[in-house]
Amino acid sequence: MRKQIAAANWKMNLTLQQGEELLDAIISKPHSLQPHQQAVFAVPFPYLFMAQQKLSGKQNVFVAAQNCYSKKSGAYTGEVSVEMLQSLNIPYVVIGHSERREYFQESNQLLADKVTICLENKIQPIFCCGEPLQIREANTQNEYVAKQLAESLYHLSAEQLQQVVIAYEPIWAIGTGKTASSAQAQEMHAFIRAQLSAKYGASVADAISILYGGSVKAANAVEIFGQPDVDGGLVGGASLVADEFVAIINALK
Ligand code: 13P
Repeated sequence: MRKQIAAANWKMNLTLQQGEELLDAIISKPHSLQPHQQAVFAVPFPYLFMAQQKLSGKQNVFVAAQNCYSKKSGAYTGEVSVEMLQSLNIPYVVIGHSERREYFQESNQLLADKVTICLENKIQPIFCCGEPLQIREANTQNEYVAKQLAESLYHLSAEQLQQVVIAYEPIWAIGTGKTASSAQAQEMHAFIRAQLSAKYGASVADAISILYGGSVKAANAVEIFGQPDVDGGLVGGASLVADEFVAIINALK
């Protein structure tokens, strides 16, 4: 079975102490991760080391960064390189979140460079895609997402692509309380997989985990994760509440 992932995206929330308390609370609650299931915590940069230490030795639980820079090293004040993340043994980094695209003008081309440098350094990108409301209203979301995939991923070899996790996050469902229906999520996930299949072949596409993001919570996770092409979720708000996120982990199929 494909890897099923419950990924927390803390975004720019919590103090160090609050982050420690949240992780302690989540670890202390009963959750059962089967071998094909993972819990991932994308925490702010200053908390990576703390999270890595707290979660070390926990089976199928991993720490992720929320971003990285596209260059190897050098005079880029304030940026964080993939080599730095690798030196902390961080296995995942979120790339191209819609908030990075919107507020920091991250283009498909820049994201292609970020994906490449992650893979060159053996860090798995969690690559985000998804359309804004006006695109959904115009019913052109398929073309929009296909372009994001083509411009940021299709330079990869099949072997490289298999290291990528994709997160479909319709922007109109992020932080709005408005979730895509499970049918809408399934439809787009199946479309993404079909696109990957056309480019890389069915066996490659079938092995790639595609997460859904946008107002996932304990109350809707079972239904959304139950869709055949949905392989877990990338969760913002509900990942900041221990009981909610544990229930979301336990909703993985
Ligand atoms: P919410 O779960 O708060 O809608 O955020 C989704 C998201 O952006 C996760 O990356």
